[in-house]
Amino acid sequence: MNRIVINADLGQHTISRHIYGHFSEHLGNCIYGGFWVGEESSTSNTRGIRNDVVQALRTTNIPNLRWPGGCFADEYHWQDGIGPRDKRPSMVNTHWGGVTENNQFGTHEFLDLCEQLACEPYICGNVGSGTVHEMQQWVEYITFDGQSPMADLRRQNGREQPWRLKYWGVGNENWGCGGNMSAEYYINEYRRYATYLRDFGENRLYKIAGGPHDGDTHWTEVLMSQLKNQGNRWLAAGLSLHYYTLGAAWQNKLTATGFGEDQWFPVLRDALRMDELLTRHSTVMDKYDPEQEIGLIVDEWGTWYQVEADTNPGFLYQQNSLRDALVAAIHLNVFNQHCDRVHMANIAQTINVLQAMILTDPASADGAGRILLTPTYHVFEMYKVHQDATLLPLDIQCPEYSFGGSSLPGVSGSASRNADGVVHVTLANLNPNQPVEMACELRGLAGKQITGRVLTGPTMDAHNSFDQPDEVRPVSFNGAIHTEAGITLKLPPKSVVVLAIV
Ligand code: AHR
Repeated sequence: MNRIVINADLGQHTISRHIYGHFSEHLGNCIYGGFWVGEESSTSNTRGIRNDVVQALRTTNIPNLRWPGGCFADEYHWQDGIGPRDKRPSMVNTHWGGVTENNQFGTHEFLDLCEQLACEPYICGNVGSGTVHEMQQWVEYITFDGQSPMADLRRQNGREQPWRLKYWGVGNENWGCGGNMSAEYYINEYRRYATYLRDFGENRLYKIAGGPHDGDTHWTEVLMSQLKNQGNRWLAAGLSLHYYTLGAAWQNKLTATGFGEDQWFPVLRDALRMDELLTRHSTVMDKYDPEQEIGLIVDEWGTWYQVEADTNPGFLYQQNSLRDALVAAIHLNVFNQHCDRVHMANIAQTINVLQAMILTDPASADGAGRILLTPTYHVFEMYKVHQDATLLPLDIQCPEYSFGGSSLPGVSGSASRNADGVVHVTLANLNPNQPVEMACELRGLAGKQITGRVLTGPTMDAHNSFDQPDEVRPVSFNGAIHTEAGITLKLPPKSVVVLAIV
């Protein structure tokens, strides 16, 4: 029998709201045209930051934003991005399209953006081509309250009070674009950099060491075994992990739309791999950190397809379909399930890049103009109910979804209880052809009232466009039926559902 059992009166771990975090790099039109249009733009903005984007992301309760990269972080020199904008030097963005980066968006603009979004900033510092001194000065510039060369420079640039800054990454993908280092080399670099990243005043940095990608548990092992100082104190609070759905096959030819089930199934299978990766890396971390003090920070995840026709291949611009909504639902359910170890995750990337939440109108000359909300955006908005709630044990028994001789679990899910006692359940039916009907057993909850919303679409590649911006959007769910035998749930094919139960 298909059934779902929700243990509403159990649960010990909190789902950190930071699992619902974001990543924005100086890449393509994520920053320029995405967040930033400049003060002179005809697009409605506040100090150069577009208002429509801020409002849309605030609706999802965006908890944090990682910046400035990505690979860009390890060739970014922060002092190029402060001071009068017309005097800032340019550089070549060698990783992403070879375009000229004019540094109009820098430290002040980023921290202003985070204040407008009411989210925590997460800065990734430059290890690959930077210096310990440069990174040390950046922290001093942002967080030091007293008199110092860097704090005085900040004041000279118009910001009297220091910012509060918690999340700090020490390099990005240092096994690759961040310096092609070995784990054995990077850990020494990490320890040196981390030593000089100071906590000024009340500010406490949450330092994140550059971690592995995919299944590279050797990197995790080396870092975890050497992350303590001689006094047995941790030198980091978090270790990052990057995994892209189908990203390992960078030359892959999968398209963002216009595909059949032969491209639906493998993408969802690859998304589910996140569960296995978290288990494997957590097992290594448990060996050195049984108290689970160090967070696993999945600060890059998402789908990676072919770029759209006639776009710069270095801009990584791709459409976003119902398939991406399922990928997002799977990841967020998996992160929730692993919330004892996963303290943060950041989807790549917020606007116009890879698995974007928001696309801006390419028809408009300056890349500004209208925005549209993608199916992935809607999943984040639906799932925000889990932020800072208590994870509840959930048992799902359902038919497998099979295609081409392989099978996947047919339904992905997670459940939580918020501070008001409301239980939320998020479910995704991976099967694009068949609905799933399940008996729903609630333990420790009367469940008198169930409301919900569902996200689905007419085809597997259903997506929103500037002509049809609401092709895929959540609507009210009427598939929860009270019978004498209890509650029955009927999930439509290829759908994501959120339920609120009291
Ligand atoms: O998100 C795009 C790129 O993917 C990032 O810059 C890099 O960290 C990763 O390889």
